[in-house]
Amino acid sequence: MLKTFNDLADFSDEEIRALIDLANRLDAHPEPEALKGKVLSLLFLSPSLRTLASFQAAMVRLGGGSFVISPDMSIHGLESRHGIVMDGVAAEHIREAVPVIASYGNAIGIRAFAERKSLEDDMAEKEFRALTSLVDKPWINMESAMGHPCQNLADWKTLDDYSVPANGGKFVLSWAYHPKALPLAVPASTLYTAARRGMDVTVLRPEGFELPPSVMDKARTAAENAGGSVRESDDRREAMEGAHIIYAKSWSSTRHYGDRIADQKLRNELDDWCVDEPWFEPAAPDCRFMHCLPVRRGVVVADGVLDGPRSIVIHEARNRMLAQMAVLHQMMGDKA
Ligand code: CP
Repeated sequence: MLKTFNDLADFSDEEIRALIDLANRLDAHPEPEALKGKVLSLLFLSPSLRTLASFQAAMVRLGGGSFVISPDMSIHGLESRHGIVMDGVAAEHIREAVPVIASYGNAIGIRAFAERKSLEDDMAEKEFRALTSLVDKPWINMESAMGHPCQNLADWKTLDDYSVPANGGKFVLSWAYHPKALPLAVPASTLYTAARRGMDVTVLRPEGFELPPSVMDKARTAAENAGGSVRESDDRREAMEGAHIIYAKSWSSTRHYGDRIADQKLRNELDDWCVDEPWFEPAAPDCRFMHCLPVRRGVVVADGVLDGPRSIVIHEARNRMLAQMAVLHQMMGDKA
C-alpha cells in the first residue's frame, strides 16, 4: 500500500512504470467502484485549477468522494506559527485543523507553495513537513515548496504517450519571463523527472536564475544512473539544437531569493524570454511544447505556439487526472 506520494525519487523505476501502466489501464478500462466508500481530504493552502479539479474528478471516477478545504472558503482564519498567542485574526491553528481534516478521509492531499522568504527553509520543506507531521493517514504532495510529484508523473506519462525517446531524447527546461517571482517546485522536480527518465536535459536560463546546486546534483545523479545527462546554458540556439521537448516555466531568481525588488529588477530585462516559433528553428522538426499550466499567453509563450500543433499542454493536463487515479488506486484501493 502506498503511504505517501511525495517525490518520484522515493520510487523505483518499476514502481513508476507500474503507476503509469495503471493510469493507462484505468483510462482504457474504468473501475467505477474501486474506491467505493473512500474519502479523500483535500487541503489547498495555495490556489489551483487543475490539481483541485483533477483530484475531485479522479475520486468520482473511482467511485469515491472528496472534500476541499481552502482559506478562500468561509473557514476560520488559519494560524501556522509555532508558539503564537492567537489574539489576532486567525481563530484556528493548523495543529488542530490539519488532523481534523485528515480524520474525515482515508487519505489527504496537501498543497502549500513555497513561502519564498528563505531558500534554505524552502529547500528543507520546512512548512510542508510541519503540515504532514500532523497527519496520521496516507498523504499526497499536491505541490510543496520544492516538489510537484503529481505533475511529474503526469509529465512522464505524457512523454511516453508522445513516444518521446527516453535515452537519446533531448529535453530543454527553459526559464520564461513572468511578471512575478514564482516557486522552484515545478522546475526542480521537472528537471529531476526528465533526468530520471534518462533524457539529455538542458536547463536554459538567464544568469541569476540558476537552479540550486543540490537540485542540479540530484538530477545529474539520476541522469547518470539512467543513461542521460544534465547541463546548463544561457544560449537559446545552442540549447534548442535537436530538442524533442521544450518545457517552459518561470521561476524566482535564486541569486535574489526572497528579495522581491532585486528579483523584479533582474527579470524586468528579460521579457524577450517568451517561447515563440523562431525558438524551434534548430530543434527536431516535431519538437513539442510542454507547460504545467496555468500559463500567461504572450508572456511565457506566444499564442501561435500554444494554439499550434507543437503544444501538448491539454493532453498533459488531462494526464494529471489519470496519473492521480493510479496513485489513489494504489493508496486506497482494496488491492493496494
Ligand atoms: N499544474 C498545476 O498544478 O495546475 P494548478 O496550479 O491549476 O493546480
